[in-house]
Amino acid sequence: MQNPLAFRVRLLLSAIHPNRLGPFAVRGQIVAWSIRSIPRNEAPMMEDRDVQVHLLPSLAAPGRLAGGVAVVIDVLRATTTIIQALAAGCTAVRPCAEVEEARALAGGMRAGRVLLGGERGGLPLPGFDLGNSPGEYTAAVCRGNTLVLTTTNGTRALLRAAEADRVLLAGFVNFSAVCEQLYPDPRPLHIVCAGTEGEVTLEDTLLAGALVEALCETGAVRLNDSARLAWDCFENHGRVLQGALEVSRGGAHLLNLGFTEDIHTAAQVDQFALVPELRRDPTRVEVGAVGIVKSHWIK
Ligand code: MLT
Repeated sequence: MQNPLAFRVRLLLSAIHPNRLGPFAVRGQIVAWSIRSIPRNEAPMMEDRDVQVHLLPSLAAPGRLAGGVAVVIDVLRATTTIIQALAAGCTAVRPCAEVEEARALAGGMRAGRVLLGGERGGLPLPGFDLGNSPGEYTAAVCRGNTLVLTTTNGTRALLRAAEADRVLLAGFVNFSAVCEQLYPDPRPLHIVCAGTEGEVTLEDTLLAGALVEALCETGAVRLNDSARLAWDCFENHGRVLQGALEVSRGGAHLLNLGFTEDIHTAAQVDQFALVPELRRDPTRVEVGAVGIVKSHWIK
């Protein structure tokens, strides 16, 4: 149960958080900064870390992610499903942009060792083994198999992010594990939201905002405006996570199709301690890191 006083103090602190006001102070200086202005030369000699949110893949100009770390988000449902599939024992996930490409790739792989999964319009595809519901990806189905996956937005966002040096996949279900991979990595961070067919979606923006908030807790960062928007979105809508996912565009669509359980699954914060990471030659997603020291979920 949330302590109301602690909640108000947190809101106040977050409202005066230096990363909201400017990129040149760290958390320990909040009080000092609020009662006097810190001269620039007294500020810590610390490189501000770039944390940029791209609310759609298309909002990141070509080449923008190069040299940085990208975190790809498609809460409902592609990244949540990929995390689930790897946790359930899939050895790798091969992302495909197109349905026919996925069929051809799976067709060329060793029978009995490959699963063909995905959706269009949220629905399973004819002739595919599985759709895009995380709950379908059980240990009995997944163990030892490669998953060839094609989804409307998520796998495309992932392929778009491949120009980054390092590409991680996030859902609420592996939130703290992703945070722990990001904290020590000094490279510019790009949080890439899949969105839905060219439109920004609440569910992805919420997770982007939660990551921004967690990163701001660790020190000085330089945010773009989309990161500030995502952070505000999370502050306003993230406290009742499942409800927010249900009213989101992707959530409403899934409710209409009867995939209510998928929304509940996607809202299970820190259910998994693994972080999927993109590997190359061939392009595939594997478990990149496992384990968390503590929960970084701060709501
Ligand atoms: C997508 O990639 O667009 C999604 O994951 C859609 C969905 O499965 O609902």
